Amino acid sequence: MKTSWAVEIAGMGSWTPPKVVTNDDLAARLDTSDEWITQRTGIRARHISADGETTLHLAEKAAREALAAADLTPADLDLIVVCTVTPEHTLPSTSCELQAALGCGWIPAFDLVAACSGFVYGLTTAAQFIHAGTAKTVLVVGAETMTRVTDQDDRATAILFGDAAGAAILRPATQAGREILAVNLGADGARAKMIWTPAGGSCLPASDTTVAERLHHMRMSGREVYKFAVTQMQTVLSQTLADAGVATDDVTLLIPHQSNLRIIESACDKIGIPMDRVMVNIDRYGNTSAASVPLAMCEAWRAGRIKRGDLVMMLGFGAGLTWGSALLRL
Ligand code: UT7
Repeated sequence: MKTSWAVEIAGMGSWTPPKVVTNDDLAARLDTSDEWITQRTGIRARHISADGETTLHLAEKAAREALAAADLTPADLDLIVVCTVTPEHTLPSTSCELQAALGCGWIPAFDLVAACSGFVYGLTTAAQFIHAGTAKTVLVVGAETMTRVTDQDDRATAILFGDAAGAAILRPATQAGREILAVNLGADGARAKMIWTPAGGSCLPASDTTVAERLHHMRMSGREVYKFAVTQMQTVLSQTLADAGVATDDVTLLIPHQSNLRIIESACDKIGIPMDRVMVNIDRYGNTSAASVPLAMCEAWRAGRIKRGDLVMMLGFGAGLTWGSALLRL
């Protein structure tokens, strides 16, 4: 969908817990190998939260860094959106706890659940508040402690995920040309159980049985998700470029969700974006769900791979199944 919203990212921040777990560390306790993980996923290491390093803790670190980068304080915010599937508590929202941790006033705060597409959904939501004039300075955070919901004895999923947070401050554009040119969000709920957590919700509340049967861990049909992701990422990218009337060659950097290097390479090959214009950091962080896109974008910005005036495409894909893309001029 073509948007032309005069909204800019004022600053970004990110944070990962210091502890790093390599493929060899995992291979020491699981039936896997560095070779298998590297070849099948592109992941070499991931950051893991220690005790006390919770989703809120990660979110606050990233948020404070984003505020500093934007030269703003918590008092300047008038809305907080936290995108997460690993909230601090199931009740209340992590965004409310973040509002208190940052010391903001009584500004609205809510969580948004769109898994690995979360940040693109969150950015789109926040931009619409600004475009409508109901908010001026919005904090959007993607924060996850995926290792807390992953079955660490399941080699199919334990190797994939890491913990991180990424944050952005959105506000009305302060210069002409800075804008969100097009967005596309989508979901296919019929594929909900391709990535899901069976217990802990109203359908199957926690009990001794759910714990004994390990039903609180995330489950994923990896191969099915893989096939759908390649096609859908390509489709949503092409649609967003077409909506904005922008050629592939004009995009400075594509920032895709980091779930599998082979998925990224395959989708980019099909659409004709060379890998030197694609941000990849999955080798160091693994899949960090809603934190993945802002973490990658923040790193690219800091490294000088993107600068003001550039065209940047964000692309998310994950549980739901959900997907989303946003094309913006920085
Ligand atoms: O972020 C949310 C969206 N998620 C995704 O996009 C994830 C999409 N899926 C994937 O990235 C890939 O499907 C995986 C990386 C999860 C798996 O790779 P794959 O190439 O699809 O492998 P597979 O599941 O088809 O399994 C191939 C073999 C199986 O053994 P057999 O049946 O051929 O004997 C698995 O048991 O690899 C085995 N296997 C492993 N072997 C060593 C599965 N996990 C491992 C492992 N180490 N960690």
